[in-house]
Amino acid sequence: MAGWNQGAALPLVLMVLLDLQRVAGRSPHETQKNITLAVILPQNNTNYPWAWPRVGPALERAVRTVNADASLLPDHVLIYRFNSSEDKGGVCSESLAALMAVDLKLTYDPWAFIGPGCSYTSSPVGLFTTHWDVPMVTAGASAVAFDGGVYPSITNTGPTHKKLGKFALRICEHFGWREHVMLIFSDKKEDDRPCYFAVEGLHAELESINITLEERVFAENKPVNYSQIILDIQNDGRGGSPWKFCEKSLAAAAAETPTCRECRTKGLNTESI
Ligand SMILES: *[C@@H]1O[C@H](CO)[C@@H](O)[C@H](O)[C@H]1NC(C)=O
Ligand SMILES: *[C@@H]1O[C@H](CO)[C@@H](O)[C@H](O)[C@H]1NC(C)=O
Ligand SMILES: *[C@@H]1O[C@H](CO)[C@@H](O)[C@H](O)[C@H]1NC(C)=O
Ligand SMILES: *[C@@H]1O[C@H](CO)[C@@H](O)[C@H](O)[C@H]1NC(C)=O
Ligand SMILES: *[C@@H]1O[C@H](CO)[C@@H](O)[C@H](O)[C@H]1NC(C)=O
Repeated sequence: MAGWNQGAALPLVLMVLLDLQRVAGRSPHETQKNITLAVILPQNNTNYPWAWPRVGPALERAVRTVNADASLLPDHVLIYRFNSSEDKGGVCSESLAALMAVDLKLTYDPWAFIGPGCSYTSSPVGLFTTHWDVPMVTAGASAVAFDGGVYPSITNTGPTHKKLGKFALRICEHFGWREHVMLIFSDKKEDDRPCYFAVEGLHAELESINITLEERVFAENKPVNYSQIILDIQNDGRGGSPWKFCEKSLAAAAAETPTCRECRTKGLNTESI
């Protein structure tokens, strides 16, 4: 899912701006006024797809472009304030993100929040922005839990994991895999757990139509016995479909199992699943 990461930042900003423009249009008599965006993202750790080094240039370009056209936000100047959600160890920190959100809100009274860019940091900030009635635009809130209705202030900039689940459901329906699906994913049970949240989207959707699900969880940061995983796929995944997450060598190895040879001959790229 790395493909849409970088390109999506600009549209997300423009989406906010179009909204702001409508609001701004109502107060033409005010003189130059700042419209502040509050940005909370990991500052340096580019292991996170939405780290500032990736998103920052797009945001700066969007701000420059908007401010260069006086007809877009008449009598207003768009600015942004950035604070990092990264702790000293370089990890996305939910407590830090929440503190930064409160600081930015009290200091600058922003019109919108951009980020946070991680799941666990998006959660507390999403609750605050809902309470403050300020839009929060992020790519970091794609987990199923954000669908529950307690985060109405959040706008996702890309497809959520629920959408991924619906996509998986369609593929299962297409191939007639209605009984038994095996989910294989790596999970360190710490930090942002992207594979866990991605697979959760499939789990929720497939469960909803009564497909039996088997899970195999492995930890990437420990030695992995791929033979055992392949054996599990052969024994438990037969007649169903294995869905693999986040570990390339596993996907390559599993592509040798009978079910996935079938996927390949039908033109399905299992590695991208
Ligand atoms: C707008 O923001 C700039 C900093 O970018 C600041 O110098 C200026 O005082 C602000 N203007 C208002 C009206 O708050
Ligand atoms: C947030 O960023 C500003 C600079 O933009 C900095 O002055 C401030 O100290 C930061 N806040 C915290 C809590 O680090
Ligand atoms: C990110 O790197 C800059 C420059 O090396 C440093 O000043 C800053 O403290 C770092 N931020 C975090 C959150 O570690
Ligand atoms: C779900 O599957 C179970 C076991 O096969 C079956 O007993 C049950 O009736 C099914 N429920 C629905 C809603 O299809
Ligand atoms: C890995 O799993 C296979 C199949 O169960 C087993 O034969 C083998 O001994 C295991 N290897 C290790 C290093 O545990």
